[in-house]
Parts: sequence; C-alpha cells; structure tokens
Amino acid sequence: MAERKTRVAILFGGRSAEHDVSRASAANVLRSLDPDRYDVTAVGITRDGRWIVARVGNGIGTGGSALTIPDDGPRLVLLPGGQGRTLVLDGDAAGVRELPAFDVVFPVLHGPNGEDGTVQGALELSDVAYVGSRVMGSAAAMDKDVAKRLMRDAGLPIVPYVAMSAAAPLSYDDAVAAVGSPEVFVKPANMGSSVGVSRARTAAEFDACCRLAFRFDSKILVERCIAPIREVECSVLEHADGAVRASQLGEIVPSDKHGFYSYDAKYLDAEGALLQVPANVPSPVADRIRELAITTFRVLGCEGMARIDFFLHGEQAFVNEANTLPGFTNISMYPRLWEASGLPQSALMDVLIGHALERHRRSRSLTFQRE
Ligand SMILES: Nc1ncnc2c1ncn2[C@@H]1O[C@H](COP(=O)(O)OP(=O)(O)O)[C@@H](O)[C@H]1O
Ligand SMILES: [Mg+2]
Repeated sequence: MAERKTRVAILFGGRSAEHDVSRASAANVLRSLDPDRYDVTAVGITRDGRWIVARVGNGIGTGGSALTIPDDGPRLVLLPGGQGRTLVLDGDAAGVRELPAFDVVFPVLHGPNGEDGTVQGALELSDVAYVGSRVMGSAAAMDKDVAKRLMRDAGLPIVPYVAMSAAAPLSYDDAVAAVGSPEVFVKPANMGSSVGVSRARTAAEFDACCRLAFRFDSKILVERCIAPIREVECSVLEHADGAVRASQLGEIVPSDKHGFYSYDAKYLDAEGALLQVPANVPSPVADRIRELAITTFRVLGCEGMARIDFFLHGEQAFVNEANTLPGFTNISMYPRLWEASGLPQSALMDVLIGHALERHRRSRSLTFQRE
C-alpha cells in the first residue's frame, strides 16, 4: 500500500508589519512542497489575527506570487492537546467540522506574533509538529537586546550597543558615551524588516530616531554605527539527525540612494538592493563567518533553520542578528543560499519537515510525570 502523504498546514500572513512579505513567502513555500509527498492546506492569519482556511491542496504552479486570505473564508481553530486536529467554523454552530489531523505545521510568518515564539507556543499547546525554532529560540532571537546579551556572554563579536526603555530614556551624550561613537543607529528591540530603524548624528536627530523606534516597542537599542560596512548573510539548517550546517554566504548591497538596508530598499524599490551570491569574501573570512553562524544558532537556542546576518568592517565580522523565520520568497536569501550550496528548494523543504517530525517524535518520549 502506498504511504499516505504528509499533511502540512502552512501558516501565513499574521499580525505584523511583514504581513505581505509572508504572503509572498508562503506562495513560494507552497510551490516548492512536492505534491507527491505533501498534502497542503494554507491557513491565512488576517491582520486582526483570525485564522482562515485560505487554500486547500497544492501542486506545481499553484499559488501565484502571493497567497491571498479570503476575508469571509471558514475560520480555523487549533485544538489544545489535539495532536494536529483542528476545527473549521463555517459561520454558524451547525457548520462546525473537524479536519483530518495535520502532521506538521509550517509557520511562514515574519516578525512579531509569528516569529517571536507566540505562535510556537500555541503549536506546543496543540501538541503538533512544526517547522523551525521553538518558543525560547524564537523569542531570544527576536529580542535584539536579549540576543545580543546571550551573544556577548558567549564571546561572539557584536556591535557596541545600549538598550533603553521609555521609562528611563538616555540622553544623546549618554548614548554616545556608551557606544563610543557620535554616529548611531536606533532601532526597536522587537521588530524586523528595518521597520523603525534610523541613523542619528546629532542630538536633535537622536530624539527623532528614538521617538520613531518607540512607536514600535517600549524597549529600543542604540548602536554604534559601523562604516564603511558590508552586509553578509549565512543560512543555517538543522537536519533530522541533529547535524547543523551553514551555507555559502550572500552579500546585500543596498543602493546608495537608500543610505542603508531600509524597508524601502528591502521591499518597495525593485532596485533597492543587489543580492550577491556567493559573497565575494576571502575564504578564511567566509569560513570564520560560517563558524560564527553555527555558534550563534546554538547560543540563541535556534532549531531547524535561521538566517544569521553579519556586518563586515574590513575583515572584522560582527554578528548582527538571527532571523528564525527568514524570508522565503523566490528571491529571498535563505533559500537562494541553499540553492547555491547544492540544496534545491524542494529538498530544503524535506529537510525542514523531516527535522520537525523527528523533533516532535523525540519530545513525545520525554515525560511530564515524575513517576
Ligand atoms: N550598527 C549599525 N551600523 C550600520 N548599519 C546598521 C547598523 N544597524 C543597522 N544598520 C542598517 O540597518 C539595517 C536594519 O537593521 P537590523 O538591525 O538588521 O534590523 P532588522 O531586524 O529590522 O533587519 C541593516 O541591514 C543595516 O543596513
Ligand atoms: Mg536585519
């Protein structure tokens, strides 16, 4: 008898500034899941947080360039302890039905309310396998202040920074003294896609930058500005047997008109940045960066996958951040780096799902009881 297909739920959209990026990532993930092996349901999370069955079934060529969420589609509810079982609400109580259990959930969500451990917590409670980092690794990587403290503790090279809360703001002079440079970057602690990130060279600019960053988070970071800077990225992947591997490096070259790798350069301007794969970096430096990427992955408690981003200043590398649910669009760095390293996207999906299923199987053998 043929083995039945693995039932996969893709979660996409979400309550985040990166909602639309997620819709594009999800279309690409759907396209690269082998229809002979996987039976896929796409579940869209609306901007106000409702889970809606957006698409049932998959096949090569499906999905378009971004998945859409039908606003009036049937709502989906995860059952706590349900081992992948879900209820679909068709509008009224008479319309409640149960779907066949999902074997694995693939959260293709970026930023807060998806990449930060919240959705991972819901998936833990529902006792279903899911792709990528669990609660702790997701949350630690998302909070730039917590991530940098863990990295510093492990001796990883990070850019000098200071964190501040709205309740205890620092003056420009204090911040400059703390990071050792009059030119600084200000950013929200929990965000992504360069939302709320800006550069200050004067006290007046600093105040404006802080106001902007505080719109997105109650904790912000002030960092020494690194210049000149090159930005290189490395994809890290964990296999079902626990082996953690690092890809070739890619380089991001933002166009001069944006000044840095801003939201506009990332998403709005088609010529906003050039992605160079592989990065033109001397091989001893590249090898060191790959090693740093794997160490960062472990130090932050990441699992499954992460894209680790670096700043390069001459030959000095700084770890900037870890993205536990990196972009997955057809031009995104994470899958591109694996393609360049000899792992095509559909094989990458198999590794990610294989890891999720094996981890879930192993966690079942742990006990919550003392006896
Ligand atoms: N300390 C810094 N020095 C120079 N450029 C920086 C610095 N911090 C951030 N940037 C620029 O801002 C971009 C976004 O900052 P980042 O910390 O990566 O936040 P996000 O999580 O939003 O991507 C970076 O890709 C880089 O171009
Ligand atoms: Mg970044």
